[in-house]
Amino acid sequence: MTATIISGKDLAIQKRQELANEVKLLKQKGITPKLVIILVGDDPASLSYIKGKQKASVETGVEFKLEHLKESVTENELLQLIDRYNQDPFVDGILVQLPLPKHIDEKAVIEKISPEKDVDGFHPINIGRMMTGQEAFLPCTPAGIVELIKSANIEIAGKHVVVVGRSNIVGKPVGQLLLNEDATVTYCHSKTNNLRSFTKEADILIVAVGKAHFLSADDMKEGAVVIDVGVNRTQSGKLVGDVHFEEAKEKAGFITPVPGGVGPMTITMLVHNTILAAKKRLS
Ligand code: GUN
Repeated sequence: MTATIISGKDLAIQKRQELANEVKLLKQKGITPKLVIILVGDDPASLSYIKGKQKASVETGVEFKLEHLKESVTENELLQLIDRYNQDPFVDGILVQLPLPKHIDEKAVIEKISPEKDVDGFHPINIGRMMTGQEAFLPCTPAGIVELIKSANIEIAGKHVVVVGRSNIVGKPVGQLLLNEDATVTYCHSKTNNLRSFTKEADILIVAVGKAHFLSADDMKEGAVVIDVGVNRTQSGKLVGDVHFEEAKEKAGFITPVPGGVGPMTITMLVHNTILAAKKRLS
């Protein structure tokens, strides 16, 4: 079997066009959605991610502001800045780029962001709302993955989803979102015994471990839906996923490429969440 490629790049272009239309309507009502990203320090990967977020915001008409703080900023100064944006009625979304320097408590920072402006969906209140199936800001990568699966008209209800990786940002919430869609979910992680016996059973296999070519065709069943969340750089500088794409695409039914798969949808969902936050100004 040669897999159908699920292009996150193409889906993102389509979704961003829809989002741009929503922004136009909001602007007619006097509302310009605004996203503030706070970056502490100069981590090159973070700077590159933020560039992508800025481009998607500007493309869709969302106002974007970067607060670029020195690595030496204190936790207290950062918390005060977040509070200022929590109070600002013209700011809809606040995102603090992770990771943060070691002297700053990540948990305290996430919990300081107003849950109503937490467009990352990382605040425990939003996580709790998501778990109980209430309206919430959904974390962007997991929400993007659900959109990718649905865009290919793949039935989720009743399917066996195997998630490899249990991070708070991707693994745990993507399993929860697919459980909310009536999938049967198995979580695997670095301590799982005989991990490949699970991955071979997956109807939908989601791989988010951050290790280049961690899984390949032998580790999946014929016709599986394979969602590759990994972004890894090889020694020669090439970007590759957690799945060996060239081999896996000969066995999978559907597969997302890296780059051009999950990544563009993560950013698109951030813009989606910012617009959702801005719509709350209407009520
Ligand atoms: N660092 C890597 N991915 C993310 C993300 O989705 N949100 C934030 N805030 N930081 C990140």
